[in-house]
Amino acid sequence: MCRPAAEVFAALIACLWCAPCLCAAGRSQQLNYRPIIGVLAQENLPGDQLARGSSYIAASYVKYLESAGSRVIPIRINRTEEEYAKIFSSINGLLLPGGDVDIQTSEFTRAAKIFYNLALKANDAGDYFPIWGTCQGFQQLSVLTANKNLLTLTDTKAVALPLKLTPAAQSSRLFRSFPKDLLQSLAEENITSNFHSWSLSTQNYTRNAKLKRFYKVLSTNSDGKIEFISTMEAYRYPFYAVQWHPEKSPFEWIDKPGMIHSTDAVRASFYTARFFVSEAMKNHHHFSSAIDEERALIYNFSPVYAGIHAVFVQNYYFN
Ligand SMILES: *[C@@H]1O[C@H](CO)[C@@H](O)[C@H](O)[C@H]1NC(C)=O
Ligand SMILES: *[C@@H]1O[C@H](CO)[C@@H](O)[C@H](O)[C@H]1NC(C)=O
Ligand SMILES: *[C@@H]1O[C@H](CO)[C@@H](O)[C@H](O)[C@H]1NC(C)=O
Repeated sequence: MCRPAAEVFAALIACLWCAPCLCAAGRSQQLNYRPIIGVLAQENLPGDQLARGSSYIAASYVKYLESAGSRVIPIRINRTEEEYAKIFSSINGLLLPGGDVDIQTSEFTRAAKIFYNLALKANDAGDYFPIWGTCQGFQQLSVLTANKNLLTLTDTKAVALPLKLTPAAQSSRLFRSFPKDLLQSLAEENITSNFHSWSLSTQNYTRNAKLKRFYKVLSTNSDGKIEFISTMEAYRYPFYAVQWHPEKSPFEWIDKPGMIHSTDAVRASFYTARFFVSEAMKNHHHFSSAIDEERALIYNFSPVYAGIHAVFVQNYYFN
């Protein structure tokens, strides 16, 4: 939309040289090598002694995206719809992190819903906008798509599991670029960290027409009694959801069962992050000015060290 004239001219010249079908694809195929992903903040955990202000982002989600070639802006809760629309038109993707808020009534949910609806509309209009949900983010996406909470309690509070990949996984957008040996490790070794009480059971997913039509299941897991969806991607939208925690392996150090720091766990973390960043590179939203962009970036905030035994080693706090 606002490429410098010279660049547009160069593109036009290039078009004279290339086949018409390539020209038609044009701009949308160019990659944005300076992507910015928004990470949604959420209400502080009850009893968080270090909390400053009303909301936080665990720094591991920021590092996770940064390590894969993206910059990050925090998206704060309790903002107006207009403010969120402006942020939406400035960023190239959205990450909904894990956490512990009410996924039907929280301010986190209110903001997630606004962005989700904006993303549906944008993608329908050919404006590629990816969303990634991790753990609570996965659950939030399921509630937004189904328009109700279909989650059930599972015994998965602190356990590492191997992904039970579905036949659809191999050809999925998310997994098809993974090295074969890494997919094999994910399928055979207990390297995906699960820290959730609630899950979307295969049964409830299958019985809900909205979810079933919207998401393709890439992996499942079980707590021994209930089989639940652990990875899914939307059929028609660049929306991705993992019930497990790829960001924890390289960036969180609480010493408890389910925390895995093996080479393949860290590789899996990187490949999921790199995949999502590569999706964000297909989006061309941008801030209205370089100054606005600079002011929005997470670099303007400092994470607070919570201690090596804390659930999150470092958190960003916001008003
Ligand atoms: C932010 O959201 C919370 C939860 O809904 C609400 O209690 C609070 O009043 C809001 N604060 C502002 C400043 O809007
Ligand atoms: C299905 O969803 C309902 C909520 O609508 C929940 O009460 C129930 O436990 C879920 N059942 C399974 C097997 O997931
Ligand atoms: C490894 O995963 C299996 C499920 O495939 C589970 O039954 C087992 O408890 C896990 N082992 C550990 C040590 O977490």
